[in-house]
Amino acid sequence: MIQESKESKLYFSKELLGWYEKAKRDLPWRRHRNPYYIWVSEIMLQQTRVDTVIPYFQRFIERFPTIQALAEAPEEDVLKCWEGLGYYSRARNLQAAAQQVMEWHGGIVPDNKKDVSALKGVGPYTSGAILSIAYNQPEPAVDGNVMRVLSRYFLIEEDIMKTGTRTLMEELATELIPLGRAGDFNQALMELGALICTPKSPQCLVCPVMLHCAGRLEGAEDRLPVKSKAKPPRPGPGSSP
Ligand code: ADE
Repeated sequence: MIQESKESKLYFSKELLGWYEKAKRDLPWRRHRNPYYIWVSEIMLQQTRVDTVIPYFQRFIERFPTIQALAEAPEEDVLKCWEGLGYYSRARNLQAAAQQVMEWHGGIVPDNKKDVSALKGVGPYTSGAILSIAYNQPEPAVDGNVMRVLSRYFLIEEDIMKTGTRTLMEELATELIPLGRAGDFNQALMELGALICTPKSPQCLVCPVMLHCAGRLEGAEDRLPVKSKAKPPRPGPGSSP
């Protein structure tokens, strides 16, 4: 990492937020700061593109407008509404978690890390996204897109498949959050990864943080992030020659 100065970090956060104000997409879950909507959108977006998610999100919220409605619905109705999105365990976990929220928190999405993380289907990324976007808490929300942006800007050449690299990225992402702007900043990072700092052919020339992007300055943007292949499953007993 060659560019970790305070100035470079301040520049990044300020320019990124300024860009987001102008460039952000008008997405249905951004119109209200309803924690339930944000939660549903983040679960849907885990393995699915924004364009695909939009109509599913709208139908889902119409059919299950509150956490209580979702908790009390027949499971087959929930799965029906999810049909075509795939990864159905997400829908089952979401409903089970809605029941947990009814039982443990009176129907209110909790606003602290311990309780949000205890909900079914909510991992570190999703808990950070909910806490920051819904409650503006300074928690990082680091997924593959965010790791790509950070690894390029800060020229981080460590393997993003390693737990230690993720931890480093979470620490860095936390440090970068401007005071009182966690929700917008985390969404700005996601937006930059989706619109400009794309996996292939990133649009560096129109990037709001191009001037101090260490990856770009090194000409390394195309080979970052470094991502090892997932390990193949271990051969089972009796499979060796
Ligand atoms: N990808 C994951 N979460 C997102 C969000 N809140 N907005 C846009 N893209 C996303």
